[in-house]
Amino acid sequence: MQDQIDQETQEVGTFEATVERSRQLEAQLVKTPHEFRVLTGDRPTGRLHVGHLFGSLQNRVRLQDLGVRTFILIADYQVLTDRDTFENIADNVHNLVIDYLAVGLEPKPGQTSIFPHSHVPELNQLLLPFLTLVSQAELGRNPTVKEEIQSAGLTSINAGMYTYPVHQAADILFCKANVVPVGKDQLPHLEMTRTIARRFNERFAGNLPVFPEPQPLLSKAPLILGLDGSQKMSKSRGNAILLCDTEDTTAALIKKAKTDSERRITYDPDKRPEVSNLLMLVSLCTGESPEAIADRIGDGGSGQLKKLLTESLNAYLKPIRARRKEIEQDPERVRDVLREGIREARELAEATLEEVRSVMNMNI
Ligand code: TRP
Repeated sequence: MQDQIDQETQEVGTFEATVERSRQLEAQLVKTPHEFRVLTGDRPTGRLHVGHLFGSLQNRVRLQDLGVRTFILIADYQVLTDRDTFENIADNVHNLVIDYLAVGLEPKPGQTSIFPHSHVPELNQLLLPFLTLVSQAELGRNPTVKEEIQSAGLTSINAGMYTYPVHQAADILFCKANVVPVGKDQLPHLEMTRTIARRFNERFAGNLPVFPEPQPLLSKAPLILGLDGSQKMSKSRGNAILLCDTEDTTAALIKKAKTDSERRITYDPDKRPEVSNLLMLVSLCTGESPEAIADRIGDGGSGQLKKLLTESLNAYLKPIRARRKEIEQDPERVRDVLREGIREARELAEATLEEVRSVMNMNI
């Protein structure tokens, strides 16, 4: 029991330290954006939603606009770790790019690149030396992997599932990214990337490190719950508002959102998570504090809250949806973005793989 408590205290302590380091990193990013390379990734499993927008997309656009070199990796191989279907991968990749462009990511050579990792063979090849730097026991201990196995209800687990955090290290290190914006669930993966970078440098690179140990940048955005108010917003849970939804669909979804039986609207995330989540969404759209919005609605009840959210969210998403429609008409533009992203990623990956071969004594 004491052991367990010690372990928990230690984990909380570690997490607090991570939060603090992330805060300092944030300040440095603003001061010297050109010293950083940011890499983030998404699996192409469906359309992006409002939770992604407020939770991560806006932050990526902000970093890009600060002038930070930005890599957006589409982790298409990772889709195969926990599902059988792959029919929709191409369509999902295409729509991810549309969503990225619609929210304000602007691919430019040397500035922002978007690419699927399946098209960057030299990146994937890094997986082979990296796999020799971690033990099977370490792979089996990853809490996020364990949770994903459980929530996907997998009875037979493929080796890709246990090894994808090592693949993710290749995703991050091929371009020597030093900052990775993440949610809490991705921290174990980033720790593995740091371990791999450190062990690689120690084992092969003597006094000239090949890889940086990338730092996590924790999201400051509040966790956006789904319209059921009980869990994180996610398309697979059917509780999400998609960026590509119409205004009418948005209105219908909000109308069905779960609230509680108390008429007076108050902001109390612990006791009234559903109502508070809706208030937070209004707040993110209008900039007004959730408490002030609650006061203004008062006895107007959840009907008025939902009406306000529908109006504010549809207004907020209007320019994004208009851009989305426009880009949808131009599939060649989306392909160009990917082709250019792949070209740049390959150039970097080739140079890194060359260095890696060289320190491993594999040059001919
Ligand atoms: N595992 C991440 C997720 O499920 C996706 C991902 C793949 C990623 N490669 C990455 C995230 C590299 C950050 C960096 O969301």
